[in-house]
Amino acid sequence: MKKLLSASILSADFGRLAEEVQAVSEAGADWIHVDVMDGRFVPNITMGPCVVEALRKASELPLDVHLMIEDPGRYVENFAKAGADLIGVHAESCTHLHRVVQNIRELGVRPCVALNPATPLCMVEAVLPDVDMILLMTVNPGFGGQAFIRNMLPKIRQCRRKIDDLGLSVLLQVDGGANPATAPELAEAGVDVFVAGSAVFNGDYRANIDNIKAAIARGEKSKS
Ligand code: DX5
Ligand code: ZN
Repeated sequence: MKKLLSASILSADFGRLAEEVQAVSEAGADWIHVDVMDGRFVPNITMGPCVVEALRKASELPLDVHLMIEDPGRYVENFAKAGADLIGVHAESCTHLHRVVQNIRELGVRPCVALNPATPLCMVEAVLPDVDMILLMTVNPGFGGQAFIRNMLPKIRQCRRKIDDLGLSVLLQVDGGANPATAPELAEAGVDVFVAGSAVFNGDYRANIDNIKAAIARGEKSKS
């Protein structure tokens, strides 16, 4: 399975979002990662469905929408209508996680469930066959540019094993602190989709993306 890089626009220039998204699309990003924060589930506030709608017009790449909000079930329809291709909800913020995942699927969008660093994998086990992707946070959600929490590696490996043992085609995504230094061990642990914000948007986008992809390939190679 081809490894994918989802560029998190949290680290982009918000005054020029459309241009920024076009620039990373041309620089080799595979997906655009959109961090939605409500100031309650996480301490920060970012953007809503109308921004997703604007991004939809600016890029053809899949929009990977990460909802860091309380009770996200209330908003999945708005984000689906705005043009999201994938919608990720946190297990910690959904009382009826299965229902929310089902709703996302019914809306024609690929469902993803996200887990904070301190949340055990068993929280997602019962819905694993119903989702297209699991997102393991490798920082505490809320801000870009934080350091990768290395102690998440065993959890990532365990999740990889679980998906493979069940014979599922669920993607494994990590979010937080991915860069050329951490990408090899993440790839080795079995990650499919790498979210990267600060490592993409600081400096030359193409060089940054090439470096992250090269690091992922190194990790892949040392695995085999
Ligand atoms: C953090 C967000 C991330 C963030 C990652 O809460 O979910 O998507 O943009 O940023 P970096 O790649 O800088 O750690
Ligand atoms: Zn995110």
